[in-house]
Amino acid sequence: MQGDTRPIGVFDSGMGGLTVLRALAARLPHERFVYLGDTARLPYGTKSADTVKAYALQATRLLLTENVKLVVIACNTASAVALKALTEALAPLPVIGVIEPGARASVAATRNNAIAVIATEGTVKGGAYARAIAALNGDIRIVQQPCQVFVALAEEGWADQPATFAAAKHYLDPLFAGPSPPDTLVLGCTHFPVLAQSIRAIIGSGVALVDSAETTAAEVAEALAGKGLASNAGDASSTRFFATDSPERFARVGAIFLGRPIDVATVELVDLRAL
Ligand code: DGL
Repeated sequence: MQGDTRPIGVFDSGMGGLTVLRALAARLPHERFVYLGDTARLPYGTKSADTVKAYALQATRLLLTENVKLVVIACNTASAVALKALTEALAPLPVIGVIEPGARASVAATRNNAIAVIATEGTVKGGAYARAIAALNGDIRIVQQPCQVFVALAEEGWADQPATFAAAKHYLDPLFAGPSPPDTLVLGCTHFPVLAQSIRAIIGSGVALVDSAETTAAEVAEALAGKGLASNAGDASSTRFFATDSPERFARVGAIFLGRPIDVATVELVDLRAL
């Protein structure tokens, strides 16, 4: 039995979502994936909710032309503002975002009921993490901080440069000041896991770092099994990539996020504007 061999569609505003693809591929090695990075229009994190929603709808239309069986929104900003719109537009195709899985993981991790969330401006402004965490446990204190500069630092691959350390100190020190600081930090942006080393240097070893990649992968696995969509015959390492700007840059910078080299021949340039 091969199961359902159609691919899983994954999209992000750029390369950051490759951290989610990496977790998906590890968890689901016999699935096929297609990944779209809307690199021409990155960042989504500083744009209005309406703009991000429109971009996300175009991104999913491209994935639909690849006959995907499930869509993963591997972008916190797009998950925060467009999950509902995409779920309605694509029904009955399952759509999974990264906010709820991240919120669940953070609630499971905290011991002192205080959670810090760092994300893009758009994600913080929309309050999606705060709502998702409060829905799971109304007693939890949540502090949030937009860290937009982290996106650019991650795209440069500056995991532990002095500038990254300085930015981490600027953003994080205020969050963890005070008598009962949070014991859990949600990396509420796909780009931030590559900066974990600098972030860890500021917050110390006692704070749990939560990124939604693993929990999202677990939720996708559950959805596939529950809906009879799982495949036994695919090869997760043979992912096809689409980018809306330079395939060369996508392959080069994307490797940082994916944790393995990307052959530029597997990256196709696409234009979403007419979709
Ligand atoms: N992918 C975005 C997110 O996870 C970060 C990059 C951007 O601002 O587009 O929020």
